[in-house]
Amino acid sequence: MTLVQRYNPTYKMPTSKFDIELDDIALSDLELIANGGYSPIEGFLDQADYEAVVNTLRLTNGAVWSIPITLPVSAKVAEVLSIGDEARLIHDNSCYGAIEISSIFVADKEHEALQVYGTNDQAHPGVKKLFERQPVYIGGKIVLTKKPQAKFAQYTFEPAETVALFKEKGWQTVVGFQTRNPVHRAHEYIQKAALETIDGLFLNPLVGETKSDDVSAAIRMESYEVLLEHYYPKNRVQLGVFPAAMRYAGPREAIFHALVRKNYGCSHFIVGRDHAGVGDYYDTYEAQKIFEQFTIEELGITPLKFEHSFYCNICEGMATTKTCPHKKENHIILSGTKVREMLREGIVPPATFSRKEVVEVLIKGLQQEVTNG
Ligand code: ADX
Repeated sequence: MTLVQRYNPTYKMPTSKFDIELDDIALSDLELIANGGYSPIEGFLDQADYEAVVNTLRLTNGAVWSIPITLPVSAKVAEVLSIGDEARLIHDNSCYGAIEISSIFVADKEHEALQVYGTNDQAHPGVKKLFERQPVYIGGKIVLTKKPQAKFAQYTFEPAETVALFKEKGWQTVVGFQTRNPVHRAHEYIQKAALETIDGLFLNPLVGETKSDDVSAAIRMESYEVLLEHYYPKNRVQLGVFPAAMRYAGPREAIFHALVRKNYGCSHFIVGRDHAGVGDYYDTYEAQKIFEQFTIEELGITPLKFEHSFYCNICEGMATTKTCPHKKENHIILSGTKVREMLREGIVPPATFSRKEVVEVLIKGLQQEVTNG
């Protein structure tokens, strides 16, 4: 498989007077289209691909793709744009590239919400964001001329770089792990269960836009560092950030997360309980079941599905209902949401929830956040 890359710092910018302002999501999408993270996508989706993705989870060429990657603009901006124009892509007064406009269309956001998120409820953070973004979508191939400032330079790798890195490490198989939370014991358990048979772990936390009550990426990065330092063999793990925005689209996002990790060089991808879910919008294993619609060959990556893991007081260790015979009352159910809630209420999560080094980082980080307002 070849990654489609669209980065050219010496690209001759259009002289056209048309500028399109990118929001944070579009900027991170531009970067990921350009560096091959979203391969085979080469631009913001045109109407035909958009409709195919929304309605069939595939691009018009038949490739599996589950999340529409769109460039929304206001009706006023759309009015001055025409198909065939080349427009500059601007964010915070800097130009990051250009788009060759091949499609301009008004999005049916109601339909998109129901298809992609399974709900049109604006209390869902992904749906809320979808409706907040501008109403007209611009499709077309892009070129990136300036890379966005890396948030965590030391942990920023492009897909071609991780592919090379994993090869250099001699990993024949690599399991990708998506997270938007500090790693708690259940995460650690499923990662290590995977590491028993897979050569390497790519811990790939999402650091793009998340909802405001998620723990900030800066604090999370520090928590991953201490966790890896104290509890993981150095030669079996690579930490690297995933700059995309979180969509909270549950099953659809699980497919998307897996496809992107394939581009980063992963052969396997962990899908646990309620992957990329939020609230009660998705069933616990809906994000695993969706993989049944596709063959491994067409996905190009193998999902590793894990049951809801918990700490069992009788087993004195992490387990799932597949490995533990004890009653529910002996189980400590953990989740990132619960850890966050406890910390915000000033409760120190027990070691059965989170490693003490991680808890220390989180407490310190959250206190600083409160102090800094
Ligand atoms: S996500 O929104 O980025 O998916 P999170 O960081 O909570 O959220 O989860 C990362 C991965 O761990 C996902 O694959 C999720 O399904 C899995 N996961 C989280 N908690 C558990 C748990 N208690 N048991 C099994 N899998 C879990």
